[in-house]
Amino acid sequence: MTDTSLILGLESSCDETAAAVVRNGHQVLSNVIASQHDLHAQYGGVVPEIASRAHIEKILPVIDQAMKQANASFDDLSAIAVGNRPGLIGSLLVAVSAAKALAWTRDLPLIGIDHVQSHLYAANLVLPPKEGQPQAIEKKPEIPEGAALGLVVSGGHTSLYRVDSPLDLTLMGRTIDDAVGEAYDKAAVILNAGYPGGPKLDKLAQQGNAKAAAKLPISLLGKESLDFSFSGLKTALLYQVRGQPKGRGREAYFERSASDLDDQTRADMAAAFQEAAIGAVMAKLDRALDQMTAEATPPSRLLVGGGVSANSYLRTQAQAWGERRGIGVCIPPMSLCLDNAAMIGGLAHHCFIQGQFDDLHLPAMATSQF
Ligand code: KG4
Ligand code: ZN
Repeated sequence: MTDTSLILGLESSCDETAAAVVRNGHQVLSNVIASQHDLHAQYGGVVPEIASRAHIEKILPVIDQAMKQANASFDDLSAIAVGNRPGLIGSLLVAVSAAKALAWTRDLPLIGIDHVQSHLYAANLVLPPKEGQPQAIEKKPEIPEGAALGLVVSGGHTSLYRVDSPLDLTLMGRTIDDAVGEAYDKAAVILNAGYPGGPKLDKLAQQGNAKAAAKLPISLLGKESLDFSFSGLKTALLYQVRGQPKGRGREAYFERSASDLDDQTRADMAAAFQEAAIGAVMAKLDRALDQMTAEATPPSRLLVGGGVSANSYLRTQAQAWGERRGIGVCIPPMSLCLDNAAMIGGLAHHCFIQGQFDDLHLPAMATSQF
């Protein structure tokens, strides 16, 4: 059994069409991402039918570009990996079908990867050098012994895991309603921050001062709970921006909207939202760390992944948390926080070396097993 690999990863679970070539599970040779943000902006959210049609148009050019940038040929590849769960079925099917076609025609192993699990793997990847710079020396990241604490913060998930190895995750807690990314997207709509919501709200909050706005609630649930809840925070922000609703049922209405507020007030409210949302995440990290320590398996480090790990406030808060609690914090570089295929091709290496392959019946699935 070999422990070297060159894997083409594919990803099309939501609104990014991506392909990447990864060597030995960590060295990213190419990482091509075609975003559909412009197509969905006018609707204020991802339209599944538009997303799958755009994936069909983009998947082959994106694969070609990834292979070219990696200077690789299909004969060099060890396997084809694809994110086949969770996501929008119509979107997932595009990369899954392309991966099956390539695996079949090139007689290569096919590996289906869980998108959520791969987000936690992204911090292990080493990016290619920028164009014109000398080739990076292949350096395998050092992974400390023992289980890690994993935090996935994305548009569909907000979950804590005990991570015993890249393929061995145990769920410790998850959101009982909205994911934190979803809450950011809704908060951006409430505050007229623009699209895509998460990054726009992040930017707006950077101009604001949370102390200048009314405090928003941090939901901690039960005393020992490691679960999350963001729907109350979203409603509290809505009422703060628009006032209490008047009337009842179908007649209910708000007297004002974000456009009645000045820019500084909106920015202050965005900062207050962010303080509460990320504050809840930090509080649960404390609890999870305490729990793992009490069980005599203190985590070796914190792994963070998912779109919201691109958030500037979360990044500084997580690093400060790590320093305070004396634990290393691994957050992927920005280009590996959002949906990408390098995390798919990287994690697939661990399936490859264990001979964990899928056949051509590999399904696209809406939900994650984690
Ligand atoms: O991981 P991802 O690209 O897709 C899923 O797997 O869901 O995460 C997308 C989520 C969206 O909700 C997006 O608004 C959020 O990540 N996001 C951010 C930022 N960048 C992306 N949220 C807050 N601040 C950001 N800078
Ligand atoms: Zn994702």
